[in-house]
Amino acid sequence: MSSDLQVVSTPDQLAERCAVHIVQVALLAFANRGVFRLCVAGGNTPRGAYARLAQQDLAHQLDWQRVHIYFGDERCVPPDHPQSNYHMLHESLLSRVPIPPSRVHRIAGEAPPPLAAQSYSELLRSALGVEPDGSPRQTFDLVLLGLGADGHTASLFPGSSLELEEWVSPRQHPTTGEWRVTLTEPLLNSAEETLFLVAGEDKAERLAEVRNTALDMLRLPAQRIVPRGHLRFLVDQAAASRSFI
Ligand code: 6PG
Repeated sequence: MSSDLQVVSTPDQLAERCAVHIVQVALLAFANRGVFRLCVAGGNTPRGAYARLAQQDLAHQLDWQRVHIYFGDERCVPPDHPQSNYHMLHESLLSRVPIPPSRVHRIAGEAPPPLAAQSYSELLRSALGVEPDGSPRQTFDLVLLGLGADGHTASLFPGSSLELEEWVSPRQHPTTGEWRVTLTEPLLNSAEETLFLVAGEDKAERLAEVRNTALDMLRLPAQRIVPRGHLRFLVDQAAASRSFI
């Protein structure tokens, strides 16, 4: 897997580097397309980057009217639930920047998973357009992804079959049983740029496997992310400790 690996010393530096990168990609997208389509990751790792992006010195550089935010996945809980990825993003970023609500495209975690997946797929098809071959006409300028200690990304879990057509799918977490809604490989891989954010010693072994071992997409779903555009990893020293740099 040829990809760009950047290692920073601490999670704070990871947050800083990620937030600055989001601004850089956004400004380029504004210039090239007039709009910036960002697909955000859930979980804990990106929270610091979202909070950093909300700080005045970075936030004021963006025309939030031209930012569209989509979600890579969502837990099937209400939007005000502590486990909701929307809730995490609202607390860390959305409540602190002047982004119009119409620009935040939330997955309906409160709805039955199949319905939430169906309606999000329809939303994405209408927003991005669909080519005759079923691929998206427009793409995300930047997709942020995390890495689970088991090798999952978004809610593409180990043992799940590769999705070749649908853009959105309901999935059940293999250990907790909780339901999720996730973007799938065809849409995630259409992005202009994909950035994995990985921090912590508990991810080190899996990160090394994902990047340095033979392809095993069933066991390591993060290896399914082979985007059309750039693939980058922004990791802290602890997560990089088992990787060949
Ligand atoms: C989620 C994410 C999931 C996450 C990884 C890493 O909804 O939790 O989509 O894929 O990115 O599990 O999570 P942490 O950043 O919390 O380690």
